[in-house]
Amino acid sequence: MAPDLTNPVPPLLMVDRLSVTFPPRGRRPAFQALRAVSCSLGAGGALGVVGESGSGKSTLARAMLGLTPSSGRVVIDGLEWTSASAGQLRKARRHAQMIFQDPAGSLNPRFRVLDAVLEPVLFHRLFDSPDRALAHTLHTLEACGVAPDLAQRYPHQLSGGQRQRVAIARAIAPRPKLLVCDEPTSALDVSTQAQVLNLLSDLKRDLGLAIVFISHDLAVVEHLCDDVIVMNQGEVVELGPCRRVFDHPQHPYTQALLKAIPAAP
Ligand SMILES: Nc1ncnc2c1ncn2[C@@H]1O[C@H](COP(=O)(O)OP(=O)(O)OP(=O)(O)O)[C@@H](O)[C@H]1O
Ligand SMILES: [Mg+2]
Repeated sequence: MAPDLTNPVPPLLMVDRLSVTFPPRGRRPAFQALRAVSCSLGAGGALGVVGESGSGKSTLARAMLGLTPSSGRVVIDGLEWTSASAGQLRKARRHAQMIFQDPAGSLNPRFRVLDAVLEPVLFHRLFDSPDRALAHTLHTLEACGVAPDLAQRYPHQLSGGQRQRVAIARAIAPRPKLLVCDEPTSALDVSTQAQVLNLLSDLKRDLGLAIVFISHDLAVVEHLCDDVIVMNQGEVVELGPCRRVFDHPQHPYTQALLKAIPAAP
């Protein structure tokens, strides 16, 4: 969304004409996967990102958090990420965490559950005593529904749903202000999906987390998010409050996307 100039409180996340071009490799030419995307998100809010496969959703998520080279501006919590120093970014990363579609991708296979969640707590020096850091980590695991007997297991000894809960615990352990979730439930079965979505929704409410939520599931986006952006071929084709975009889609691409949802049985 364009920055709201009538609102004196700056948004937590401001993305301004963000573009990503993947360089040519071998016979493959350069490819522009993101084209001047702008959007914003206030503290504690939730922004959905929808669009068909290949429309640039993951590229946007990665570019927002500086995980892929981009042009344009990203400001998170008052810091311009796109021009920040490595030292500033190291500190700022505490406040902007990411959950990936495949939890295996966000967990180091050599770290036990407890160590995986404790590591960012120690790294960001949230507490001055190791006992308090450990207590916070155990509390975070509990809040994410990870049973205490799983704390000494390695990621490959967990189910997909348990792994995603641990990935969420690791992401929220440093008490971030922003969580970017890239299809966090698409690798899970339907009942586990619902549990993980409820967990995210509870954490958002209880911790005042702002969430960027990328999903193929428009019903879930409508349930969880205030605003939504609709992406097609690397561009935002429509944006606004979920209710307006889903009830009265203006762009033919959004209309087609909504028509593609199977009717409820
Ligand atoms: N490292 C890369 N090098 C070249 N092209 C890439 C690279 N990563 C992604 N792309 C291309 O950029 C486009 C956008 O990819 P992206 O992964 O952002 O899509 P997506 O909307 O997340 O899709 P999905 O819903 O399937 O996850 C695709 O055409 C993809 O092939
Ligand atoms: Mg993706």
